[in-house]
Amino acid sequence: MDKVYRHSGVFFRSILESRIKMVKERMLTVRRFCKTDSEQASAVLCKAFKSFMGNRFDTIMTAYYSAENLLKQVSSLKDNFGESAIFVAEENEKVVGVVKASATSGGLGSFDYVGVDPDSSARGIGSLLMSAAETFWIEKKQRKIITCVSAHNKKAIIYYLKHDFIPEGYCRDHFREGVDEIMLCRFLKPKLEGA
Ligand SMILES: CC(C)(COP(=O)(O)OP(=O)(O)OC[C@H]1O[C@@H](n2cnc3c(N)ncnc32)[C@H](O)[C@@H]1OP(=O)(O)O)[C@@H](O)C(=O)NCCC(=O)NCCS
Repeated sequence: MDKVYRHSGVFFRSILESRIKMVKERMLTVRRFCKTDSEQASAVLCKAFKSFMGNRFDTIMTAYYSAENLLKQVSSLKDNFGESAIFVAEENEKVVGVVKASATSGGLGSFDYVGVDPDSSARGIGSLLMSAAETFWIEKKQRKIITCVSAHNKKAIIYYLKHDFIPEGYCRDHFREGVDEIMLCRFLKPKLEGA
C-alpha cells in the first residue's frame, strides 16, 4: 500500500511539474493595463484593427488607439456613474492582446474594444480577455452588456456569438461611410445562490 502511495505521489508530482512547465513555457497572463504598456498595447490594437479594416483604418482610428490616447483613457477610468477597466494579455513579457470593458451604475455595461495580435490569433487569447471583462462586469453587478461589430468582420462576429452576444440591431454607414455595424448585446445571468 505504502508503495502505491509513494508511486501515486511521484505520478501526481510529475503531472503537476509538467503543468507548471507548460504554464512557464507559455507564460500567458491577463492583468490590468499599466502605463508602461501603452506603446505595446497601442501597436497590438492598431495591428488588430488594420487586419479587418484594411485601408479604412484611418487617422481617427490611429489617434484613438494611440499610446497617448490609451494613457488618457486610464487617467479617467472612473466617475460618479461608471467605471471602465483595461486589461492586457501578456506573453513572455510582450503584450499580445488588449480589452476595455465598462460598467455603469444602472447596470448597462459595454465591451468597448478588444484586439489580439494577429500573429497570436485563434489561440484562446480573445476568450481569456473576455473572461477578464466578465469578471469585472459581475463584480460591478452589470445586467446587460452592449457592443457592436463591423458587419464584414466575420471572425469577430463568430467570437461574439461564441461568447453569448446576440444581434440587437443593424446600423448602416455608422462610424464611417461604407462600414455597417451590427449592434450586439448580452444579458449576464445572475449567479444562483450556492451554485
Ligand atoms: C476577434 C478577436 C478578438 C478574437 O481573438 P482570438 O484570440 O483570435 O480568439 P480566441 O482564440 O479566443 O477564439 C474565440 C472564438 O473566436 C472565433 N474565432 C477566432 N478566430 C477565428 C477564425 N480565424 N475564424 C473563425 N472564428 C474564429 C471562434 O469562435 C473561437 O472559438 P473556438 O476556438 O472555440 O472556435 C481577434 O481576432 C481580433 O483581435 N480581431 C481584430 C480586432 C477585432 O475584430 N475586434 C473586435 C471588434 S471591436
